[in-house]
Formats: sequence, C-alpha cells, structure tokens
Amino acid sequence: MKQDNLHRPTVYLLATGGTIAGRANSPLQTAGYRPGELSVGELLESVPGLNTLAKIEGEQVCNVASPFITIDIWLRLARRINELLARPEVAGIVVTHGTDSLEETAYFLNLVVKSSKPVIVVGAMRPATSLSPDGPLNLVNAVHVATSPEARNQGVLVVMNDEIYGARDVTKTHVSQLHTFRSPDLGALGSISSGTVTFYRQVLRKHTIDTEFSVDQLPALPRVDIIYAYLGADGALVDAAVQAGARGLVLAGMGQGGGTKEQNEALRRAQAQGVIVVRSSRTGSGRILPPTDEYLDKGSTVTADNLNPQKARILLALALTRTTDPKRIQRMFTIY
Ligand code: SIN
Repeated sequence: MKQDNLHRPTVYLLATGGTIAGRANSPLQTAGYRPGELSVGELLESVPGLNTLAKIEGEQVCNVASPFITIDIWLRLARRINELLARPEVAGIVVTHGTDSLEETAYFLNLVVKSSKPVIVVGAMRPATSLSPDGPLNLVNAVHVATSPEARNQGVLVVMNDEIYGARDVTKTHVSQLHTFRSPDLGALGSISSGTVTFYRQVLRKHTIDTEFSVDQLPALPRVDIIYAYLGADGALVDAAVQAGARGLVLAGMGQGGGTKEQNEALRRAQAQGVIVVRSSRTGSGRILPPTDEYLDKGSTVTADNLNPQKARILLALALTRTTDPKRIQRMFTIY
C-alpha cells in the first residue's frame, strides 16, 4: 500500500491492529467494539492528507487486539523495523498498536531497534468508526514526530493525545479516557500542537543503538513470569512458574517490592535453582531501593529501579539472553 509524494521523507507505517483499527456497530459505541479490523490501507485512507506530510508506505504486520501480540510478532516486527531503517530513504517508522499492551511493545523495541531514527508507537482509545475517533489525529501527530529531526536519538517514542512519551517511562493509567497514557514519575517529553513538534526533555537512559541486545539470531525470549504480591499469598505460583520453566521472575511487590513471607521463601527456593528474581513495585511509581535482609537475600536479588513489573519482565528476558549473573543484570536495570 503506497501513498506517493516524491519530495517528502519516507515514513513506514507498520500496522498491528488495536482500537485504532477497530470497528464498532454504531458511531456512538466506544466500548465492546472489535479491535484490529481495518486494514493498513483502510487506516491510511481514513486520514486525508497524511501523504502531504510524508511519503507513506504501509505494511500489515498482524491485525489483532494488543493482548494477542506474541513474542513471535515482536521479533518479526523488530527485525522488519531494523531492515527498513537501514534504508537511507526511510526517515522513520510509525507502528500502530492496541493501547492495552502498547507500552510493552514500545519498551521492547526501545531495547532492540538498532537505529537512531525515530520509531513512534501510536494507538487510539476510540474505534475508527466512532463519532469522534482519536486515531486519525494521533496518526497525523505520529507522522509529524517520525519526521522531526528532534525525535532522533530519543529511543522509541509513544505519541498519544497530543503528547510524546519515552517508551521506558510511559504507561496506560486509565481503562477508557483519552489521556490514559502517562509517565507517573517523569512526565511527557514533549507535545504536538497543530503539527508543531516540541520537545522539552531528552531521554537519558540507554536505548536502541546503545544496548547490548540483538534480535538478529534470537529464536525466542527466555521465559520470565510476573508474580503479584498480596496479603495471604503463598508460594504456590512461584513454584508453579519455576516448574513451568521460568528462568526469571519479577515480583510485583508491595511498596518497595516486598512479598509475603511465603512468597519470599518460594523466591529463595527459585534462586537456589538459578532463577533470577527481580523486585518491582505494584504501586505504579517510584524507584525500588537495593534490597534489605528483611525482604530477601542481599546480592542475589535484582531491583527494578522504577520500571513497572511488565517492563521489568521485558528487560529481564532480554538480560537473560546475555547473562545469568545477577550483578550484571542489576547493572542493566540501572542503565536501560
Ligand atoms: C487493544 O489493546 O488492542 C484494545 C484496546 C485499545 O487498543 O485501546
């Protein structure tokens, strides 16, 4: 699918589905619709004038609701982005994606894309058929950011509701509102207003070309599971995850990353079998300090910094493609 304009930068739109490509039975329906129905061609046609901003080329990677994005799709998507960005004529990439897991795909790409050109992940909270869909303007804004020189070297960016966020920091905070995407600790990097892209901050954590991770020869990611901490939780889910082959576990812990006594005991058992344990917090913001005796063994437990559990899981899985040394992995949590 092509929209031609010879004098504009080339932007590749890689479509994966989600609400931005969703269809409802009526224009008034904004819940209970079907995500991932519009094709990439229909998506492009729904935004008149998009091809005046850039020469847009579109490809359908998959067309699913974002909870159904698989690791296989991630690997395919990342390799395709690397291939496209290696072409001199390609200025940037826009990935359309469901919002439910958008932050996870964005952070994964942030760690494995090997280019400093802009990669923008964008979605919508209202389906394409809604009375006032947010997708078309989000898409226009994403193309503006993808062609902005200031968006280079910032890692993968998320553009939603006129705001620009770093992939590492952003999270979905509300089930349905348009301003659901937020960075609780750090705020937005910038904004887009009537086509003008303005950055106020830069990304300092290492990303893309400065990471040690590569998807080139990677057949799959090591299994890493998330264990949720709550009062009364025993160690059964930890033991089950280890039994299922987990090589890493992320505790979505209480406060500073604490689990119950029974969970802590089970995590120690897991560590004794070589499983790497990372403590993150279920609170939604804030940085986890190094562990104390009370919570778990010093030295062998890694802390997630301020990554939320689902992002800590991604970094741990990629870390395990490089090493099983908890000290090296802890270092990765402080630089990425
Ligand atoms: C999805 O994540 O695919 C459905 C929800 C959305 O895109 O907002």
